[in-house]
Amino acid sequence: MKRRDKIILMKTLLEYVKDAEKRHVAIGHFNISDSEGFKAVIESAKELNLPVIIGVSEKERSFLGVAEIRALVAVEKEKGLPVFLNADHTYSVVASREAVDHNFDSVIIDGAEKPFFENVMMTKEVVKYAREHAEADRREILVEGELGFIGSGSKILDDIPDGVSEKTQTTAEDAKMFVEETMVDLFAPSVGNVHGLVKTGEPKLNIERIKEIRKAVSIPLVLHGASGNSDEDIREAIKAGISIVHINTELRIAYKKGIEKGMSTDELAPYKFMAEGVEEMKKIVTAKLKLFNGL
Ligand code: G3H
Ligand code: ZN
Repeated sequence: MKRRDKIILMKTLLEYVKDAEKRHVAIGHFNISDSEGFKAVIESAKELNLPVIIGVSEKERSFLGVAEIRALVAVEKEKGLPVFLNADHTYSVVASREAVDHNFDSVIIDGAEKPFFENVMMTKEVVKYAREHAEADRREILVEGELGFIGSGSKILDDIPDGVSEKTQTTAEDAKMFVEETMVDLFAPSVGNVHGLVKTGEPKLNIERIKEIRKAVSIPLVLHGASGNSDEDIREAIKAGISIVHINTELRIAYKKGIEKGMSTDELAPYKFMAEGVEEMKKIVTAKLKLFNGL
């Protein structure tokens, strides 16, 4: 079999997501900024034999290189590994188009901070572009829309960010209207989730709201900002209808801790001191994948 055929025969991301939905599990989405992060996610996914999504936000992919991360993922796909690439939190139509042109598996157009109709308009534009430009030999490039601000930036926060409160959580009515208008493939609501890790404790996820949104829209739901949420909350969220879970801050903390450990000796070889960072990240990825998959 030619390498190209192997890629075509692999299930698509949407098929994996729908399968996860049916089995009441979720696919792990892990953000990375470099090849060490990539290695950590891939090794964990391989060890557990699970599909996985690599996420790169605008800044993460500009550090790593759009074509470079695409190439790294392609190498794993060619080996038959179900690894998918998501252009995470993309704030402009132009940057979304670039991800589509580089054949990412999915792109998130993030208009969550914009007024509802502006968000709808830009999301629609990306959906149209993605549909038109999905290359002939590919089946899909998914577009995810976001509604309801949940803060920005995967960092340690002193408190819940301004503009995020119970009142700003996504309602089922708005979710339905947004999804019907934009025709997105995946939907990310605000349901008590917060980007980053809140020092004073993460707010509880609004499980009832997830259930209501699940009933109101017919496409898979994505939970962002899952760093710091309790295992119990995440399990309940998946049971309520979440099919993809995003983790970043916890990975960044683990990576930094590992590198610091690696650098604390006289070791000069990067593949030795950086390996500590990879190991620490792997511990998080593996634990989260087990949690999301009920293992
Ligand atoms: O898109 C990225 C995620 O939503 C990360 O959120 O930093 O709170 O894990 P987190
Ligand atoms: Zn996010």
